[in-house]
Amino acid sequence: MSKWICFFLVFVEIQSLPGQRCAPYKPGPTYRSISTQDFKIQFRQKLQCRLIFHIFYSSAEEKLSAMQVYSQMEVLNRYFNNAVNAEDYNIPEAFRNLKANPNIEFCLADKDPVGNASIGIEWISISDLSIACKTEFGKRSLMHKNLGGVDLWDPKTYINIFVINRSQCPVLGEAIYPWDASSDEDGIILDYRSIGSIGTAHGNKPFHQGKTLVHEMGHFFGLFHLSGDQANCAGDDIVADTPLQGLEYFGCPKFPQVSCGQNSQFMNFMSLVDDACMHLFTIGQVNRMQEQIQLYRPEIGKMNCTMRLQDDLKQVIVRQNQLDWQLLSKSRGYFSCNLELYDMNGRLRWKQQFEEAVSVTISAELLDVNPGVYFLLVSNKEEKLCYKLILVQ
Ligand code: ARG
Ligand code: ZN
Ligand code: CA
Repeated sequence: MSKWICFFLVFVEIQSLPGQRCAPYKPGPTYRSISTQDFKIQFRQKLQCRLIFHIFYSSAEEKLSAMQVYSQMEVLNRYFNNAVNAEDYNIPEAFRNLKANPNIEFCLADKDPVGNASIGIEWISISDLSIACKTEFGKRSLMHKNLGGVDLWDPKTYINIFVINRSQCPVLGEAIYPWDASSDEDGIILDYRSIGSIGTAHGNKPFHQGKTLVHEMGHFFGLFHLSGDQANCAGDDIVADTPLQGLEYFGCPKFPQVSCGQNSQFMNFMSLVDDACMHLFTIGQVNRMQEQIQLYRPEIGKMNCTMRLQDDLKQVIVRQNQLDWQLLSKSRGYFSCNLELYDMNGRLRWKQQFEEAVSVTISAELLDVNPGVYFLLVSNKEEKLCYKLILVQ
């Protein structure tokens, strides 16, 4: 239905305003035009890592959908491979210019270790949930086929993510530090309810936004909690621009908080606050991650993330995430297209063309357009898809 309405509007505009379709919209008194600061696009970056999700399940609920995994990929890339985010204004000014882009891009593996095609997700049916945090003979059962789990995919070139119901375990996630990794034990283990932002993660506050894996990935690349996991200001995370902390923060503290005589950076991804309240990696943390990768995981960032086909716009989903409109690839990679945003009167309000984006977020909050109905036309040479977007007051 919306598709027809949209095509109709576009058609009308082309017909009635020949030659003016691309003319910039002139802002009226009630709203300004949409500027390039109002959206962001993630592009390919230097380091590219491939992930394999080993999803263990003993019930239908635990058998996460591929869509849920894709939602996790979007979150990972949003914070590891993106210079600007809509939520950056939540970072107190004191720390805002310390925020850095790790420039690490993640994709799902498209080949298994023997070269067969893969979607980067495998589902393993189990009857005994006790392997979730069990160790036998000093080994994590989950990571060994002969102990009831699965063997790692070569950890030099794959990041292994193990997903399981961890309700019997002390913590919801666990990552192996680079220096502790071995050829048969490496990667990250996560509870099935804190993967991505949909499905089992939906409503799983405060771990419902996919940031647990962002945090664990920080550990995987050699970052510590800000307190260095020691009380009384005795610990250090070996990063200069994260202030010393004598404790870890939980929940969603109000700025400012002081510890060890310093203004605490509790909104860091390596803090233990709620998903909704963690927002940055610092320049120092990004430098440390890059050093650690070079030192211990030199091959991990050299994978070629496969590209999405230009003609596959049906893989692109558009969704409204609070005050953002997000486009992300339903499959595993990139998309290239033109975006045009029309208002109810068929006026072109904003447009942008881009190549090889991982995700695109249009921040409706910053757009300063009136509440109402908008149409987003997503197109390439072969296809045109139209989405109706509603901006509520
Ligand atoms: N407890 C876990 C750890 O220390 C992760 C907690 C992450 N916090 C979050 N809001 N997702 O590794
Ligand atoms: Zn941690
Ligand atoms: Ca520090």
